[in-house]
Amino acid sequence: MKVLDKLSLRARLGLLYAVLLIFSVVVVGCYSYWNIWQLFISNKSSQLRARAKPIIEHWLVDNDLTKSNNPHLKLNPEKAFILARDLTSRDTVAIVLNRKGDIIANGKCLPEEPQAPIPDKRYFRRALSGENEVTYRSQVNGKPVLVLLIPLRPRPASPQIFGVIQMSTLLTDIRKILFRHGTMLVSLVAIILILGIVTGFWLIGVSLKDLQSLLTSCNQISKGNFSQRVSVKNHRDEIGKLAISFNQMIEKLEATFASQQRFVANVAHELMTPLTGLRGSLEVLLRGAQDDPSAMARLSKGMYREVNRLIRLCEQLLGLSQLESCSNVHKQPIILSEFFNEFKANAQVLAGGRSLSIQQGPYVKVSADPDLLKQILLNLLSNALRYSPRETPVVIRWKLLPEQVEIQISDQGQGMDRETLSHAFEPFYQGKLARLVSNEKGIGLGLSLAKSMVEAQGGMIRIESEPGKGTTVFFTLPLE
Ligand SMILES: Nc1ncnc2c1ncn2[C@@H]1O[C@H](COP(=O)(O)OP(=O)(O)OP(=O)(O)O)[C@@H](O)[C@H]1O
Ligand SMILES: [Mg+2]
Repeated sequence: MKVLDKLSLRARLGLLYAVLLIFSVVVVGCYSYWNIWQLFISNKSSQLRARAKPIIEHWLVDNDLTKSNNPHLKLNPEKAFILARDLTSRDTVAIVLNRKGDIIANGKCLPEEPQAPIPDKRYFRRALSGENEVTYRSQVNGKPVLVLLIPLRPRPASPQIFGVIQMSTLLTDIRKILFRHGTMLVSLVAIILILGIVTGFWLIGVSLKDLQSLLTSCNQISKGNFSQRVSVKNHRDEIGKLAISFNQMIEKLEATFASQQRFVANVAHELMTPLTGLRGSLEVLLRGAQDDPSAMARLSKGMYREVNRLIRLCEQLLGLSQLESCSNVHKQPIILSEFFNEFKANAQVLAGGRSLSIQQGPYVKVSADPDLLKQILLNLLSNALRYSPRETPVVIRWKLLPEQVEIQISDQGQGMDRETLSHAFEPFYQGKLARLVSNEKGIGLGLSLAKSMVEAQGGMIRIESEPGKGTTVFFTLPLE
């Protein structure tokens, strides 16, 4: 087994295939050889019996034995010799035996006629006990012979047996035919094996070619080349399906790596903006602006704003990374109406006098993390308030769905254009509107954080927005 483990998959499959092929071809060959041999033997014995039957019947009639009722009928050697002689030919010899098993007459006279084998006591007893079809194989001077034993009865159905005829015929002819047949079979088997093994190895090679290309792609990918794809020849076989899954997996990996690279670049960029602002302010201060109180106050205010922005960015990034590792989710049963009664105060502060309505929905208990739920609502609410005119209302409501509850935050603002809608959940993405309407510059993490927080609690989030009419964000939470 250890030696097999050292071989390649192709060599192992090839070896297994060759062994199975050789085994099955040899078994089929041996079975067919044995079958033909049996067929020849039974044919030969039927021929001999058919030839012997009329000769024995004639002999019985000629010697008036058919009418005899003598229970102690004895064989006359001279008459028995005539029978043995009649039954003997160039390749067959007959001998007549009495009930004791002594040879009464032997049909062999001419030297070219074969010699009879010594009668076998076991088979003789079976013939004497009345068995009509005793046939066995024996040897005379190293040559194979077929031996038949025929019980001698006065009449065909008579139970009385007064002797046994032993007919033996040489099997050398059959041997010759079978040898020729065997040689042909062996050559045929050899040809089948060679063809089978060659085509088998070829087929295995073709099938494993895709696997080889998969291996090459893996090596390329391990070196960082994510553009590599496996070419799929047959989509329906297992290797084809594996290659398709592999390509899909690489596509996802490529997208993930690209988004991670974008994320890092965005973080660096977002950090760079306040830091550059801070450096600029510090340079001005160092050049002597600290002596001018009004410049000092303006610069300090700016620096304070930038530091706050940095802190907000760091907090949000920390929140995002904690959510990704799922280390910060503590779910508990929450009665939604009670939760919103408490949340109302925070929401009113955020709304700062704007019209905000929290519409009570059905009584439901959800399984959620109250801190995360509050953070989600604050993120979505601050968007709704920021991206809609002051005079328009913002509405929060919820409704029951099978096994979950859906919470909606609607505004009647500008809405999102197609591009913003398709990228809104991407970290650091900010739509055109954000740059136009907002006096306080956002980071572009609000929605992506909300999405991560919803998903960390087993829910889903989506946006419906119509430019000019408003936006509704829907998110679900599992029921308790
Ligand atoms: N209610 C809304 N109406 C219209 N556009 C919206 C709404 N909510 C979000 N958007 C758009 O989606 C973008 C992404 O929103 P997100 O909350 O992630 O970032 P942000 O609000 O720009 O910044 P941050 O929330 O990090 O301060 C926004 O820049 C804005 O263009
Ligand atoms: Mg936001």
